[in-house]
Amino acid sequence: MLIKIPKGTQDILPEDINKWYYIENIIRKILNKYGYKEIRTPIFEHTELFVRGIGESTDIVNKEMFTFPDRKGRSLTLRPEGTASVVRAYLEKRMDRISKVVKLFYFGPMFRCEKPQAGRYRQFNQFGIELVGSQSPVADVEIIAAALEIYETLGLKDLKVLINSVGCKKCRSDYINKLKAFLAKKEDLLCYECKNRIRKNPLRVLDCKNESCQAVLKNAPNIINNLCQECNLHFKSVKSLLDDLKIEYTVDDKLVRGLDYYTKTAFEIVSGELGAQNAIAGGGRYDDLVEELGGKETPAVGFAAGIERMIITMEKQKVSWPKKKDLDVFVVNTNEKDNSLAFILLQKIRKSGLFADLDYSSKSLKSQMRAANKYGAKYTLIIGEEELSRNMVTLRNMETKEQKEIKIDNLIDELST
Ligand code: HAM
Repeated sequence: MLIKIPKGTQDILPEDINKWYYIENIIRKILNKYGYKEIRTPIFEHTELFVRGIGESTDIVNKEMFTFPDRKGRSLTLRPEGTASVVRAYLEKRMDRISKVVKLFYFGPMFRCEKPQAGRYRQFNQFGIELVGSQSPVADVEIIAAALEIYETLGLKDLKVLINSVGCKKCRSDYINKLKAFLAKKEDLLCYECKNRIRKNPLRVLDCKNESCQAVLKNAPNIINNLCQECNLHFKSVKSLLDDLKIEYTVDDKLVRGLDYYTKTAFEIVSGELGAQNAIAGGGRYDDLVEELGGKETPAVGFAAGIERMIITMEKQKVSWPKKKDLDVFVVNTNEKDNSLAFILLQKIRKSGLFADLDYSSKSLKSQMRAANKYGAKYTLIIGEEELSRNMVTLRNMETKEQKEIKIDNLIDELST
């Protein structure tokens, strides 16, 4: 019996890989321009990092992590996101000694054992950026602007920026008390999950999609009206900087995000093309995380974006992809007994910088020409015994069907013109 791919995972096939190269190249170019440097962290970390970093009461930690013991019984987890790992590396490598503000970006697979559906996978790829060491609202807006520049360069349209402020440790706990008191009175009207959330993670009730919960929330205390002066000022500055850059946004006071580390700004970029899983990117400020993971008080802000969801949106919006690079030369060898010269010439052509290939099986001329057509080669180089005895080969232009004999010594010059 054939072994099938695990549920919620995908193969990225050769015919699609160019899309990934293209997206990754644009992201790298733009983020380098903004002063971000790439970091690569391990695919798995000590489980404790995510429990402490993301929060014990979150769905990710409670239900979605792929956790396993190593051979000595220590608990490891496939990373469900990148922020905790980047902060771990920041602290472990003492990056604060290099500069006050550290700007990093990453690409890579993340793992969450969610129920798979369109745009939601168990292994998915993110790119993300983390700006550690600044509390300026300019940093919050810079990362939103960088994300939008990436999307715009890739040709994505009709994206919406939703922003909110979830306050700081102090004003949030006052707000949570008010919210709890409000929800306790309406508990009977809430869904089963939200009944539990009142005690475990009341903020998450705010973004429950259940209609009866949404109805209850219409009169719930509003988080923005309960911000302390500092958080309020910060939120106002973020909005005014977005206005200055003419970035359109919608304030969504129910946006709380699924990770516990957020403080002040929380935002999402959503696409109308994605149905229920409409968040193409999400992020915000996390001023307490560095300290919670053992460092000194250090403000930080960042976001991550799902690459599969970007591709789905681009395909639905019929964004054009760069043309695939065709093969320049296909080498056809008619001498069945000896293919060594064909191979030597093939390597010469490749070393000159051209894309070249051959048919390994040295079948008939006809089947090799068929293969050349299949590869979409611009030229075929036909190597025949009689021509070889005169140090000549035949070059055929596959488009015009013109054929000419050329000297082997002139081959590379001829192909390069
Ligand atoms: P997140 O909202 O959990 O945030 O994920 C960011 C993005 O990853 C989502 O907006 C979505 O595009 C994509 N994504 C998440 N889960 C899945 C899934 N199961 N299948 C496909 N795509 C998915 C974070 O991960 C934070 N670390 C972002 C951050 C960075 N905040 C501060 N810095």
